[in-house]
Amino acid sequence: MSFVGRSFVVASLVALCRAGSIRGSSREEGRTISVEEVQAGLQAAMQTVLDGDDDSRMRSARIEERVWQTFQALPKNDVGRLTPRGVRYLVHNYFMKEHGWLIQGLDPHGNQANVSEVHEVSILRDKAPALVESLLEARRSNHGLALTDIVTMIAALERLIFDESLALLRAAYAFNDVSMFGEVEQSRVHDVLTSYLLLFQLGSKGNLSDARLHRALKARVSRRDDWPTVVDFQKDAVMNFNYAKKDTSNPFVEPRYTFEDTLDIVEELAHGYGKWQNMECQQMKADLMDLDADGDGRIPLGKFYGRVDTTKYQFTESMRYLQEVGALDETGTEKKVRIANYLQGPSNCIASSTYYSVCCLSECEGVLNDLEVKIQAPTAEPMQLLRLVGNISSSTVDAPRQLPLAMSERLHKIAAQNGGEVPLHGRLFSEWLHFAFPNECPYPHMVEEAKTLTPSHWMDKKVALEPERRYALASAALEESESTTVADIAWASEEVLHVQEPQLIKSNIFRTMMQVAVLLTVMRAAASNWKTLRSMGADSMKKDYQLPL
Ligand SMILES: *[C@@H]1O[C@H](CO)[C@@H](O)[C@H](O)[C@H]1NC(C)=O
Ligand SMILES: *[C@@H]1O[C@H](CO)[C@@H](O)[C@H](O)[C@H]1NC(C)=O
Ligand SMILES: *[C@@H]1O[C@H](CO)[C@@H](O)[C@H](O)[C@H]1NC(C)=O
Repeated sequence: MSFVGRSFVVASLVALCRAGSIRGSSREEGRTISVEEVQAGLQAAMQTVLDGDDDSRMRSARIEERVWQTFQALPKNDVGRLTPRGVRYLVHNYFMKEHGWLIQGLDPHGNQANVSEVHEVSILRDKAPALVESLLEARRSNHGLALTDIVTMIAALERLIFDESLALLRAAYAFNDVSMFGEVEQSRVHDVLTSYLLLFQLGSKGNLSDARLHRALKARVSRRDDWPTVVDFQKDAVMNFNYAKKDTSNPFVEPRYTFEDTLDIVEELAHGYGKWQNMECQQMKADLMDLDADGDGRIPLGKFYGRVDTTKYQFTESMRYLQEVGALDETGTEKKVRIANYLQGPSNCIASSTYYSVCCLSECEGVLNDLEVKIQAPTAEPMQLLRLVGNISSSTVDAPRQLPLAMSERLHKIAAQNGGEVPLHGRLFSEWLHFAFPNECPYPHMVEEAKTLTPSHWMDKKVALEPERRYALASAALEESESTTVADIAWASEEVLHVQEPQLIKSNIFRTMMQVAVLLTVMRAAASNWKTLRSMGADSMKKDYQLPL
């Protein structure tokens, strides 16, 4: 792909807006927009973002392969297209499961009545206003999006986010005194790429102009035990790049790299980063599960805080934080921490840039996607679901298994509450999935404000408790923990159908929605990637943050 093509992106979008090719038509008073016009506008706007990129068709094909089955399973409008909430769900789901990216503007919304939509994504608003405009047109004309629109839009978003890497890579070149013109040897590329990864990790807290600061920081982190995994991550990417070029390069000459080559490698890094950093999430999850004697996905608060300083992970988030993100279960006599909600909480997201954060990949969305693939419809009968879910395994659940009777009864009640079938994308089914996969699926807690689920909300707030406070809480908590079973746990019965447009929902349910702010499934996983930067991230949430020098 051509490097020139990328930098043209923003310029050509601006040109598009100026030419008014998209804005013009609908602004005229009293004029109805035809579906064809909206369609043409959308495609044009999205194509502009992708133009000049030969890979984009291939990438689109890959994206389509990943989303078409979910698309089938979502409710459509009367012309067979996806409505704004369905689009939001699909886009959000794609980025969470593929990259662990929590995109600004598509944050978990707890399915409150007021749900943000794809046109509110901040990177689109800043960098692709024409696309936003045409999404709004599609919405106004009740047009909905076809699968191809959605695929192109996801590709466009991915492209815009990759383009963000460019500034970081430039800074990484400058910090290592490497010229962006001409070719450099491999060892210098490694220096540049480790700098890039460090900057990427720091996200919006990084400084792209202070070279001295960067070098000091890099020297500091390079003494950490876990630094080699970072170095290996970029070395593997370079090796893959060399391998892909092996047919066209001379094996007897040491390879040299242009800026464009490095940019290609960086794109690979960005693609693989979500899955790579997720290894750390898995370790943290295993650590948490060791503390869970009952195996119900909940840990007594005393145990959560009671980790000694020598263990790899210490959990320091305050009770208020746990409460606000829905990770604290206060239904029993003893307060407990919900593993899945905790992992997906914003304190575990890293690399928060202005436009997105990298969080743990959501295993629960994988489970739901499995069901969507098999069901291919927005709702299913309880018996079918029991059979299918009993056959789905996760990293902590082995299939096949027989679900307890209480679970089967519960599912039938959900169906009864929704006219005979269970809506797959509703709050009640999320709750049910939580009990079926307690370590993977977060409890759809009712949050007061959806913004407490976003990393940016906690950015300048104090999240961590001082060690003394933690020890005090740990020893105050009762040692013996009560045993709970599914049947004992109180179920909340509010349903919220979060991929349906409000006007399509029966009015009584809509009223409930207005009254109750409910967190849905979509609470995101998260975990910091490597310990070094996790601790830097945690520090950075404190008000008295100083760069660790
Ligand atoms: C709903 O969201 C819009 C835009 O984000 C905002 O202007 C409006 O105040 C919100 N309404 C409620 C009831 O929160
Ligand atoms: C980066 O560092 C420079 C020099 O220390 C400072 O002037 C600048 O304000 C910093 N920028 C940011 C965004 O922190
Ligand atoms: C359960 O999974 C197995 C293996 O993946 C498959 O052969 C079987 O048909 C599945 N059963 C149902 C009911 O889906």
